[in-house]
Amino acid sequence: MTNRILLLGIILTVVIIAASFVLPDSNRSAEQVAIAATPMAASDAQYIGVAQCVICHRTDAQGKQEAIWRESLHARAFQTLKTEESVKIAQEMGIEKAPHEAAECLVCHATGWDLPAERMGNRFNIEDGVQCETCHGAGSEYRAIHARDPEAGKERGLIVARGDADACIVCHNENSPTYKGFDFERDMARIAHPVP
Ligand code: HEC
Ligand code: HEC
Ligand code: HEC
Ligand code: HEC
Repeated sequence: MTNRILLLGIILTVVIIAASFVLPDSNRSAEQVAIAATPMAASDAQYIGVAQCVICHRTDAQGKQEAIWRESLHARAFQTLKTEESVKIAQEMGIEKAPHEAAECLVCHATGWDLPAERMGNRFNIEDGVQCETCHGAGSEYRAIHARDPEAGKERGLIVARGDADACIVCHNENSPTYKGFDFERDMARIAHPVP
């Protein structure tokens, strides 16, 4: 009998500790959410900006990636941080800065906010939010070569995370104060931008 009670006690403790890691916590620090920033900041290449990609990735033959992305919420992710809803969310979390200047929000709503100026090309614009290079890697080293030779592009930092839900879950997770759940197949279909 005592053994059973002890065992029950241990199980309960484990569940409570596990839950404290899993359940959403509105007092997360920038340090905790910064996990999402690291993989995208891994190389020394420069972020050259959407304008430098869509020179080519806008035609019917290429698959109109520019238009598809512009219509997606990713293109508006930075602007979203300027809405009243965002200001309210940030206030409730005790964040003192404006959401579009706060690491706790920028970590998933923008690219480059945490990097030094020399890592940004002169056409890079933080207001483009979750942009081509957020998912495909900083472009300065692969931009020219990948159009002829995608494999050589990958050696120079081009990322094409085919079928890899983790590439999305870095941001689509419970650290999002408005988390709505994530289903890789459904949500990938919503942002699909294939070369025809
Ligand atoms: C000079 C024109 C040009 C520019 C500029 C350009 N691309 Fe490309 N890109 C191409 C071509 C051509 C392909 C090959 C398409 C194909 O598979 O037929 C390609 C392929 C890709 C692929 C698919 C690679 C694969 O292996 O499936 C990705 C992802 C990509 N580009 C992203 C980008 C990003 C991000 C930028 C900006 C940093 C960019 N491109 C700039 C022309 C360009
Ligand atoms: C850098 C962070 C980040 C990454 C990586 C990311 N997303 Fe998002 N995504 C966002 C943000 C932020 C929004 C909401 C933007 C807004 O509403 O302003 C969003 C919105 C979306 C939406 C629209 C949701 C809706 O309710 O309509 C879809 C679909 C989506 N993302 C799919 C994906 C997929 C698929 C991947 C992986 C290939 C991915 N995302 C990777 C940050 C990210
Ligand atoms: C939220 C992340 C995300 C953003 C933003 C994004 N892509 Fe992609 N892209 C992906 C993923 C993931 C794939 C692989 C798709 C698959 O598995 O079918 C992909 C595939 C591609 C391909 C190859 C398509 C094919 O059929 O081979 C090209 C080209 C491309 N992206 C260009 C761009 C350009 C240009 C932009 C900006 C205008 C952009 N992407 C923005 C995640 C993203
Ligand atoms: C861990 C990544 C992450 C962080 C951190 C984050 N967001 Fe988001 N945000 C997202 C994603 C992903 C979405 C798309 C909807 C969802 O949450 O699933 C989103 C959507 C939103 C939306 C649109 C809500 C809607 O109903 O579509 C607002 C507003 C927003 N975020 C504000 C903020 C503010 C303000 C902060 C900082 C206090 C913040 N976010 C921090 C990832 C994040």
